[in-house]
Amino acid sequence: MIDKKTKQKIIVTGGCGYIGSHTVVALIENNFEVVILDDLSNSNITVLDRIEKITGIKPTFIEVDLKDISRVENIFRYNKDVAAVIHFAAYKAVSESVKEPLKYYQNNLYSLMNTLMSQQKHGINNFIFSSSATVYGNSKTLPITEENEVQRPFSPYGNTKKIAEEILDDLVKSDPNFSAISLRYFNPIGAHDSGLIGELPSGVPNNLMPYITQTAVGIRAKLMVYGNDYPTKDGTPIRDYIHVVDLAEAHVIAVKRLLNNKQEEQLETFNLGTGIGYSVLEIIKVFEKISGSKLNYEITGRRDGDVPLLFASTNLAKEKLGWQAKRKLEDMVLSSWKWEQNIRKVK
Ligand code: NAD
Ligand code: UD1
Repeated sequence: MIDKKTKQKIIVTGGCGYIGSHTVVALIENNFEVVILDDLSNSNITVLDRIEKITGIKPTFIEVDLKDISRVENIFRYNKDVAAVIHFAAYKAVSESVKEPLKYYQNNLYSLMNTLMSQQKHGINNFIFSSSATVYGNSKTLPITEENEVQRPFSPYGNTKKIAEEILDDLVKSDPNFSAISLRYFNPIGAHDSGLIGELPSGVPNNLMPYITQTAVGIRAKLMVYGNDYPTKDGTPIRDYIHVVDLAEAHVIAVKRLLNNKQEEQLETFNLGTGIGYSVLEIIKVFEKISGSKLNYEITGRRDGDVPLLFASTNLAKEKLGWQAKRKLEDMVLSSWKWEQNIRKVK
């Protein structure tokens, strides 16, 4: 056992959320000390007990709205020994961002700016950012490599990711001591094997997997499949779904890369996906097999902003990070299903 004092301390913003909580578990399992900053706007405080159940350690938690610069600055002042920051905190509902763009620009960009300014002021020079494949828009060349052109995303939410990457690019150019890694997630699904942590969408889910599991438990009447006239094998759109635990492990590797000064450029960008694309109907078929029940669904019209086909080239992450997704689609669907059933039992 490493003595607590020798552990390196990581600040995880948005650490009570879906991807953040899985990353906190992975960090603790890799002997890091974690301080979570979260305002609980899209998460629940009980996640801390659940993390403790899994790892035996309850992470330090500070409830703070990152839009509040004076509080954020103060937190960093008292945590100058932090080795790196992983920044998950953001709003992420795509359709809401179209209706209320300023809410998204304010939350996602102020939170980012306040975190960066405060950490830079106190000499904390390592930063990992949650970006998204949404920055590639409707890419014409597949698989998508990090060299693919970044396009103006369809939604204000997506645009906050593009702008954030530009801010990071400007920051590293201005400060030779600052290092950042931007991780572009494809479609994270799944939950921790324990069934103790997972995705907890507030209100009606936008994303496919939680919509499927909520339909299966009867919270939603029917899944609408948005279009079957795309130029794909069965007409439904194809995405690169990635297990959230694989994603969490990639963050630990990225942190170690920064802490061990292994990065080749001050700002590095990596795709995090599996490299394999599945259609909506394929996901439904796997879900029906795993749950042993028929899913109530109907084919309807296309959803605005959806692209037909999206899957990652995983070569750069493999080559430079030495990271590759290990978990298969069946693991992702099974763990999502187990999590959905568990949370309904608790309520
Ligand atoms: P999530 O909503 O579950 O987690 C985000 C966390 O940030 C929540 O706990 C929320 O309470 C907190 N938060 C939001 N605004 C805050 C603020 N102003 N101050 C403090 N805390 C705040 O989302 P997630 O799915 O875990 O996503 C994490 C990150 O990954 C986000 O930046 C998201 O945009 C990005 N991302 C997610 C996906 C996905 O499909 N889930 C895909 C690509 C990128
Ligand atoms: C969506 C967002 C993207 C964001 C990502 C992760 C849009 C247009 N894109 O990606 O910006 O980064 O989530 O949060 O919102 N589907 C259905 N019925 C449903 C839900 C989804 O058929 O009820 C289909 C969609 O048409 C899509 C696939 O399932 O083809 C996956 O959808 P989703 O989980 O929302 O992810 P993305 O659209 O890829």
